[in-house]
This record gives sequence, C-alpha cells and structure tokens, in this order.
Amino acid sequence: MLTFPQGFLWGAATAAHQIEGNNVNSNWWPKEHAEGTTMVEPSGDAADSFHRYREDIKLLADLGLNSYRFSIEWARIEPERGFTSRSAVDHYRRMVDTCHEFGIEPIVTLMHFTVPRWFENDGFWRAKDAADLFAHYTELALPVVAEGVNYVCTINEPNIAAMLAGGEDAANLVAHGLPDPDLQVADALLLSHQRSREVLSQVSGLKTGWTIATQAFVAVEEEGAAEKLVEYGHPREDWYLENVKGDDFVGVQAYTRTFIGPEGPRPVAENVETTLTGWEFFPPAAGIGVRAAWELTDHVPVMVTENGIATADDSRRIAYTQGALEGLHACIDDGIDLLGYLHWSALDNYEWASGFKPTFGLIAWDKQTFARTPKPSASWLGEVARRNGLEA
Ligand code: NOJ
Repeated sequence: MLTFPQGFLWGAATAAHQIEGNNVNSNWWPKEHAEGTTMVEPSGDAADSFHRYREDIKLLADLGLNSYRFSIEWARIEPERGFTSRSAVDHYRRMVDTCHEFGIEPIVTLMHFTVPRWFENDGFWRAKDAADLFAHYTELALPVVAEGVNYVCTINEPNIAAMLAGGEDAANLVAHGLPDPDLQVADALLLSHQRSREVLSQVSGLKTGWTIATQAFVAVEEEGAAEKLVEYGHPREDWYLENVKGDDFVGVQAYTRTFIGPEGPRPVAENVETTLTGWEFFPPAAGIGVRAAWELTDHVPVMVTENGIATADDSRRIAYTQGALEGLHACIDDGIDLLGYLHWSALDNYEWASGFKPTFGLIAWDKQTFARTPKPSASWLGEVARRNGLEA
C-alpha cells in the first residue's frame, strides 16, 4: 500500500461554465451561438449543476472524497459593469457552506476561462484597467471566501487563457494544438493575479495560487530539439511557473505529453493509445508536471488541481489514475510538498470547443433528466481517498 501524507486532499474539480448551464452573460455564450461557429455545440443547460450543486457535493462526499474544486462565475457576480448580483454571491457562498456541511474542503477558482461579456467588449485583458477590474471582482467575491475557505485559485491556466485570447479560432487551436500565447494578455493575467492576491490577503489564513497547464514536453533525440523545447516550452509553461513568487501554492494540471522535434511539436504518434481528446494516454504526466513545478518555483507547495482523461471506457480512467497516483506518490517520497490530488473531472462536462463528447467525468448524467450516475472510477477513487492509500 502506498500511503499518502495525513490531511492529503482527495477530490475532484469542475469549472462553472462547463457544468452549471445557462451562463448567458459570459463571453463564451455568444461565441457558441455565433453563426458559422466551429464549436461543436453550445453549452446550453450543461449538467445543470447551478441548481444541482448540493446533490453533486453530497455525491462526492458519499464516495469518500474530502475536497471539491469549483469555480465561481464573474459573469454571474457582475453581469453588467458596475452591477453586483447579491444573489449570485449568496449562491456561491451557499456552495461553500454546503461543502462544509458534507465535510468537503472547498477550493475556489475565481476565473476559469470565462469572463463577462462586457469585460470582453470593453477591451478584454488588453484593456488598460483589466487588472483593476479583476481586483474589483475579487473584492465582490470576498464574501464567498471570507470564512472557511483555505485555498483560492485566482486564474485557471493563464498559459492557456493567453492562447485562447485569439478568440474562437484560438479555442479550436487549443483543442488541437498549442498556438502562440498573446504576450500582452499574459502580462495582464499575471498582474491581475497579483492584484487579486493582494485583495485576498485580507482574509487571514487563506492560501492563494494559480493553476498552470504543465503538459510534459519532451525533446526527441535529434539535433536542435533541445533548443526548440526551451523556445516552445518557455512561453507556454515555464514563464508562468517562474512567476509565482509570493504564492502559497501552485496548481498543476497535466494530462499528456508532447514530443518536440527540431521543427517544433510533433503530432501524436500513430502506435500509441489515445483518449477522446486525441491526446496520448500518458499517466506519468501528473508526476512530471509536479516535479517541473517544484523545481521551477524553487519549492512552492504543489497541488494537482486537475488530472484525468476523456474516455468512454471507464476502466481506462482507473488505469490512468492509478498510474498518475503512483507517479505522485514517488514525488512525495522524493520530498516534494504535494498538498492534494483533484481529479478532472467530477462530472462529464462541456469540453469547450469540443462540446460534450469528450467525457472526463467520474460521474455521468442523463441528458434529459440530469440524473447522476457515478462510474466505477468514482467509487475506486473514493476508496483510495478513504484509505488515504493506493494499492500498488
Ligand atoms: C484544463 C481546463 O482547465 C479544463 O477546463 C478542461 O476541461 C480540461 N483541461 C480538459 O481539457
């Protein structure tokens, strides 16, 4: 049995836009409905978790998990510039209270890709006052996290957000490759993170970090590949990890690996197992991402804030997670301060431009009734959590 440290966080993660449904004031909604959109389908009702969050949180607790990472939606809290929705703030506060009711540690993300429409229309992350606006939103959200919340993730995957900044086409590219990030947006996201962290520092004991997509980039053994790896990896990953000074933890989100040749990233090889997103089935990704984060941040505590696979074959999800957790246990053995493992995802959900087809969830739900059905992987992970140990 591989035993994990006492107090290790065992949980699952979601994002508001991907499960709540009807996020109509967000900047994604009009893109999903634009004429000629290349997005596979709109998010619609999604999993209706906006209304069913209590059931979802209880399910996670019943399974044996002890934590839940979810995001709150800026577009609901501030649907119009300068207007605060008290009911939206109350809603998210109730989610936090519900977590406590069921013994679940809430881990709150402030921004998971989506922003209010007005923010995008007023210049988006390129606007001069973008960081002020994000800091202001953080203030509005303070009542949600003011009590009983130990971990806040300010911005989800700023490195992917900087790539998504190119709009709908970029969203498609992100689904099928990693385009160049918009460096102006990257700077604005960093400043927004820092300003948000300042606001959050009013809450004593609260730990703040951001969550980085850290796929395993590997240079092939060919001349020029190692240099290309640095050139390719740096603006996509390393820059964000080097920039966590002053953070209490860093979130690592790793799913797969990408080989880099002298010409750049290579397509996934034909002879390897792939998942529904077309990514290589590669369980060591989480451990590799954690090690990179630990080194590049000069030993900031790490939390795996996402890891999982899109598959219709749930036995592969278990096999993948088993492999990922073995790699993470080895990180702990090597002295890395790993706070927890949050599986992506609690529920099957809206995988952005790719629609609902890539199923990442531990829990399935019925498209008509929204009835939830935990998959065998959910019970399996719950058991691991209850034992705080993995059978090797
Ligand atoms: C990372 C993103 O944060 C999340 O929104 C997405 O669904 C997963 N990766 C899977 O692609």
